[in-house]
Amino acid sequence: MNYHVLTLFPEMIMQALGTSIIGRALEKESISLEAIDIREYTTNKHKKVDDTPYGGGAGMVMQAQPIYDAYQDLERKIGFRPRVIYLTPQGKVFHQGMAQEFAKEQDLVFLCGHYEGIDERVLEEIVTDYVSIGDYVLTGGELPAMVLIDAISRLVPGVLKNEESAQFESFHDNLLEYPQYSRPEEWMGKKVPSVLLSGHHANIEAWRREKSLQRTYERRPDLLESAALSEKDKKFLDNLRNNTCK
Ligand code: ADE
Repeated sequence: MNYHVLTLFPEMIMQALGTSIIGRALEKESISLEAIDIREYTTNKHKKVDDTPYGGGAGMVMQAQPIYDAYQDLERKIGFRPRVIYLTPQGKVFHQGMAQEFAKEQDLVFLCGHYEGIDERVLEEIVTDYVSIGDYVLTGGELPAMVLIDAISRLVPGVLKNEESAQFESFHDNLLEYPQYSRPEEWMGKKVPSVLLSGHHANIEAWRREKSLQRTYERRPDLLESAALSEKDKKFLDNLRNNTCK
């Protein structure tokens, strides 16, 4: 997976993603990352990349020319028309399914806006996906781009140490993850559930499934509508519902 981030703050991207698991993946070359400074493409002699909005109003608008030229240079380099994700609160709200879909691409381009937005004409020309990370407004698209890069990268083969671990966790089957425990067996008077110490794999699996179902029911019941549930799961949830209604 090759990421290309079009931004006015390239150092913000490179610094934040250079550490931890993503940093290690970059070193191992499971993924690659370049931050392209939009300002380097401006034809304005003062290096200006924004101007006031036509029709009036507050703030500044990022101009089309430097963004388009930066994109064209990139497209030429990649050799095909890549998916271009524009981070905006007006986009589709990001979820795990979208991360899985984006993880299939060979190259992904992220366009980060600032100020009051970007000239609509260049968006029409290059953007393929409008993506939001939630219903709140941030000062720019860099943090959302990094959120997407993090979520997508951990699905790219070779990025996580144990490739299996991306599959059995929160949002697998649209269920939340079961609770986890480690040493010691007792902490502050709280004991680790005995089934986890039993060594009985089938019982442990069954317990974990029930905890996942219970947790999702309590914390994110909206997820259950699209969860993959067996008849046994459904019975367990019916029981939970009956007990909580009493
Ligand atoms: N840019 C500003 N706010 C944003 C948000 N919530 N999601 C994506 N991009 C943004």
